Amino acid sequence: MPETVLVTGGAGFIGSHTCVELLAHGYEVVVVDNHVNSSPRALERIAKTAGRPLTAAYDTDVRDRGALAEVFAAHRVDAVIHFAAHKAVGDSVARPVEYYDTNVGGTCALLSVMHEHDVRRLVFSSSCSVYGDAQNVPLTEHSPVAPTNPYARTKLMCERILADVCAHLTDMKVLALRYFNPVGAHPDGLLGEDPHGVPDNVMPYVAQVAVGRRERLSVFGDDYPTPDGTGVRDYIHVMDVAEGHRVAVEHLDDDTGMRVFNLGTGTGTSVLELVAAFAEASGRDIPYRVVDRRPGDVAELVADASAVAAAWNWTTARDLAAMCRDAWRFQELNPRGYAR
Ligand SMILES: NC(=O)c1ccc[n+]([C@@H]2O[C@H](COP(=O)([O-])OP(=O)(O)OC[C@H]3O[C@@H](n4cnc5c(N)ncnc54)[C@H](O)[C@@H]3O)[C@@H](O)[C@H]2O)c1
Repeated sequence: MPETVLVTGGAGFIGSHTCVELLAHGYEVVVVDNHVNSSPRALERIAKTAGRPLTAAYDTDVRDRGALAEVFAAHRVDAVIHFAAHKAVGDSVARPVEYYDTNVGGTCALLSVMHEHDVRRLVFSSSCSVYGDAQNVPLTEHSPVAPTNPYARTKLMCERILADVCAHLTDMKVLALRYFNPVGAHPDGLLGEDPHGVPDNVMPYVAQVAVGRRERLSVFGDDYPTPDGTGVRDYIHVMDVAEGHRVAVEHLDDDTGMRVFNLGTGTGTSVLELVAAFAEASGRDIPYRVVDRRPGDVAELVADASAVAAAWNWTTARDLAAMCRDAWRFQELNPRGYAR
């Protein structure tokens, strides 16, 4: 019997690519998404890209325990990947209650319904933002955590809740993955990053500038203590993130309890380096202007990716040029994203 994986937030950027990866490896995939930051059209494209349909998709809010319980009653769920969350740092400063409600409240609702249905295997979307304003990079899973904004605090809170749940339910198996900066798109050009409204992340913004949808990029600060003064991040191809989740599901049974892993490449890239790489991949100019730092942003976040490599014998495979090429292909083929 193939395993059934329930993917919350499965229509979103990382979720949609992970669904394709799971379908390609024979899993049955059930999606729960309320489309607050995604299009239902992504679901059709998942099936097209994977060449296989999703088992089911529900337009459901993860905070709605009753509706979630019906989903668990309808499917024999073997594992859950929990992506559904709000994710924009700046927005979280402006709307903290919504972030705690969805990210922490949604996780609690999910955990209680999983518990009621005896589902004990979970992969959780955490974030490198839990490390805060890191003093020493690369960051290992043992580096101090000190989140600097409400979004990052919701992720750390969820990790702590999960650790407490694992301490109580000793057969629970949880992998919390702290992603660094997922970018890029599926190479077939059908799936990519299409956030509602103004993109909060740099890569989709750059892509929208390149395609002429936005005038110019705002670079938030060039006075950070980094080689060119702009923020340095560890960009990771979304296909590597997707693959990492499939491999994580395969490794859930390695141990019981709560385990935390970084998901990054170990390579740092500044905003200006990213802009140059994208201009090269797209053949387009990327006009930009430097503006003030953004509240909650930090200078440098780069992963020590060795723990995952040692535990799963798995590493990322795609470089910055591939990330830019694939993000550009999606943007060029879908100038208005999933909107027709
Ligand atoms: N993209 C990044 O840079 C990044 C980095 C680190 C961690 N993460 C985490 O990874 C996860 C996925 O991120 P993404 O980039 O794919 O974001 P995304 O916004 O594209 O996907 C999130 C999905 O969850 C859905 N969703 C939100 N609230 C929901 C709710 N209450 N009920 C049901 N569905 C809901 C949205 O509609 C969306 O489809 C998030 O938890 C995010 O915090 C993302």
